[in-house]
Amino acid sequence: MRVAVISDVHGNLPALDAVLDDIARQGVEAVLCLGDHVSGPVDPSGALDRLIGLSATCIAGNHDRWTVDLSVKGSGKIDAFARSTLNETQLAWLAALPATAAYGDEVFLCHGTPADDETPWLDEFYNGRSTTLPGEAEVTEATGSLDYELLLCGHTHVPRSVRLADGRLIVNPGAVGMQLVQGSPDARYAIMERRAGGWHTMLLSVPYDHEEAARLAAGNGFPQWAASLTGGWVGPESLR
Ligand SMILES: [Fe+2]
Repeated sequence: MRVAVISDVHGNLPALDAVLDDIARQGVEAVLCLGDHVSGPVDPSGALDRLIGLSATCIAGNHDRWTVDLSVKGSGKIDAFARSTLNETQLAWLAALPATAAYGDEVFLCHGTPADDETPWLDEFYNGRSTTLPGEAEVTEATGSLDYELLLCGHTHVPRSVRLADGRLIVNPGAVGMQLVQGSPDARYAIMERRAGGWHTMLLSVPYDHEEAARLAAGNGFPQWAASLTGGWVGPESLR
């Protein structure tokens, strides 16, 4: 089995297009998408149309929840902007997404942790420009009783592949559309392949026209996203 895993597109259509072009060369049987599909200033509606057209296995992230219902605590300006670009069909698609999903009987999908779409799993959340892998007990504890060989998560925008002592693998593919503390504007995703010896992780980095993305963001009233889109060195405080 060989699948592509994408997460945190955040409405960045140029980044998503570049990643999907790369995936088209990879010979995968499916695309799995871990949420935060639209909340961003580049082209939320265009990005969502591309995602809907993929017929991928998709779940919702915290920002998708916040875009569907702007009255929920946590929802902010970027979610309101994304929602303002979406039509009723797109909103209904977002609203129908599950919080978690399974792909076959080996792969589990969640956004944050299996229990919560706002809790980061493989990184403590940002302290300025720093992120840190939590301890083994804490990471293992969050798996609960889930009996899957491969557990996929997003949310932190930091690519990681963690093998637990019992052999289970937890993988965050990084973000397609919003780079934080990566030192690169390139879009991130993962290819996961099940071979005889177990699951292999390939964490990939794809260049795209990030200057165009920053221009679109500025044109939509979010010039503060430029540092993240064109450099990828900054932490989330730069987006405010
Ligand atoms: Fe996100």
